[in-house]
Amino acid sequence: MTILRAFILLFIFELLPSTSLNLAPSSLLETAIRSAYVAGNLMTSATASDKGVEVTKLNKKDLLTKIDPLCEEAIKKTILARFPDHLILGEESVEPGPSASSMALSSFLEKSRATKKPLWIIDPIDGTTNFVHDLRYSAPSVACCVNGEVVVGCVFDPYANETFWAVKNEGAFLNGERISVKPEACLEDSVIAMGAPPGKLSASKSIKGFEGLLPKVRTIRMLGSAALMLGWVACGRLNCYWEWDLSSWDVAAGGLIVEEAGGRMRGLEEDTLKFDVSERKIIADDGKCGNDVREVLKESGLF
Ligand SMILES: *[C@@H]1O[C@H](CO)[C@@H](O)[C@H](O)[C@H]1NC(C)=O
Repeated sequence: MTILRAFILLFIFELLPSTSLNLAPSSLLETAIRSAYVAGNLMTSATASDKGVEVTKLNKKDLLTKIDPLCEEAIKKTILARFPDHLILGEESVEPGPSASSMALSSFLEKSRATKKPLWIIDPIDGTTNFVHDLRYSAPSVACCVNGEVVVGCVFDPYANETFWAVKNEGAFLNGERISVKPEACLEDSVIAMGAPPGKLSASKSIKGFEGLLPKVRTIRMLGSAALMLGWVACGRLNCYWEWDLSSWDVAAGGLIVEEAGGRMRGLEEDTLKFDVSERKIIADDGKCGNDVREVLKESGLF
């Protein structure tokens, strides 16, 4: 009886998503969401000692807890159970630092191209400092790339129980409802988010940018999770988010969610037309204020 019921449930679960999307992206999406949930549940059930900082990576500001590798393993296991031959690039499997991160990405993209296998780019806990300090704004981020392009992305906020996802050309969603950016007519009315990055150079760029921007916008927020700030641009809570130095796993899922919500995800220095996961300096916007923000950053001497 129970086995029969399990079979029926499994059958329904397999059928449901494929009715609205074609099969391949929907099974990638289902796996992305499922794996983000597994990691998110580990985050919310973590005890205080689990959140103890195990290692500081590059410097005292770059933290790693006991839970990060557990979440990464859980995400990988979930993906590989469904797609045993797919490639996975995870933050915790790469040495700290921008150059190791860029090298790992290009070698995985190359491998993905050569083997024609999808590449998953995952961040088990985006916003680790928030996680450690109980600031309740951090999230697993799971993206899948085909031919070097992100086709599916999911960011799950386990505290607010908010699931952001997007499928290439199929739109962006929050808890199953379609979302879109909310363009603000002028920069003075825009709420801008930015990073407070640990690196010396990116910190000094951020301070300059903050100084230039603050008098010209409604306000600035530094919320501490790139993946979630991108989700928040996508659903219209923020007009723009920029950051000087990020890795592919911070932005892969969120970038697609912004684009599919009608926003723009671009390189900060050069006006790239299309979002590229190798881009480490990014600006995401509501389709409107990003150009003005870039002008102010340029005037402030960032580039
Ligand atoms: C979280 O949200 C989903 C809908 O996205 C809902 O089905 C689920 O019951 C919620 N869980 C909790 C614990 O509120």
